[in-house]
Amino acid sequence: MVVVLLGSPGVGKGTQGILISEYLHVSLISTGDLLRNEVREQTDLGKTAKAFMDKGELVSDGLIIEMIKKKIKREDCAGGFILDGFPRTLSQAESLENMFSQDNLQLDAVFLFDVSEEEIVKRLTGRRVCEKCGTVYHVSYNPPLREGICDKCGGSLIRRDDDNEETVRRRIEVYQNSTAPLINFYKKQDKLHTIDGTGKVERIFKKVEDILEGLNGHN
Ligand code: AP5
Repeated sequence: MVVVLLGSPGVGKGTQGILISEYLHVSLISTGDLLRNEVREQTDLGKTAKAFMDKGELVSDGLIIEMIKKKIKREDCAGGFILDGFPRTLSQAESLENMFSQDNLQLDAVFLFDVSEEEIVKRLTGRRVCEKCGTVYHVSYNPPLREGICDKCGGSLIRRDDDNEETVRRRIEVYQNSTAPLINFYKKQDKLHTIDGTGKVERIFKKVEDILEGLNGHN
């Protein structure tokens, strides 16, 4: 199965993406995580991307599309994959269509998570991420057992450079201008499933699971 996760920063795409990839046994591809790896390894792409990411702006379509093209050709994506954070512009969505037709793939579903702006700001300014294993926490909604320490690996929890309020608000604005038009793009293809992204993580996932079951039943 091939699934796209859509929605403003902080709606829970990464959180739900992990659950969906475990449920479907397919790879989770997060362009944000791929870019942060490039930044950490100080590659040319990472150095270019960091300046955009820190300001809450999008990295150029060309760089992102090349990165995704390489990624979906890898063996671990042969059984399907979930895209978290891609596509983010109409141009990226059109390139994805081309990749699908070249590789004989088909998009099964797009999940759009819906959360209010004030809740998003609370979620992102309170998010903490394990420096070592990437596990995501929230200072009040999902705190670690020991403050600042990852429950899973004992690594230090850090705040992402783009999770300060000013950058979060800019990211939301960029989402509205550049990414929200994809809602209509996928609605027209009859692929869009809109889900209320508030409430317990498990309850939100249950709604996703029900839709996936329905789609599997049709396949
Ligand atoms: P990226 O890393 O993709 O960031 P994003 O889209 O801003 O999404 P987030 O990771 O912030 O949020 P999320 O929806 O995954 O939420 P999460 O599950 O973590 O991109 C970063 C940057 O990279 C971009 O700004 C851009 O510069 C660049 N980039 C990436 N892709 C690109 C592309 N395609 N083109 C161009 N540039 C690109 O949850 C957030 C918090 O809420 C967590 O603390 C979590 O614990 C908590 N939470 C989750 N669910 C719930 C719930 N139900 N209730 C309460 N709390 C919850």
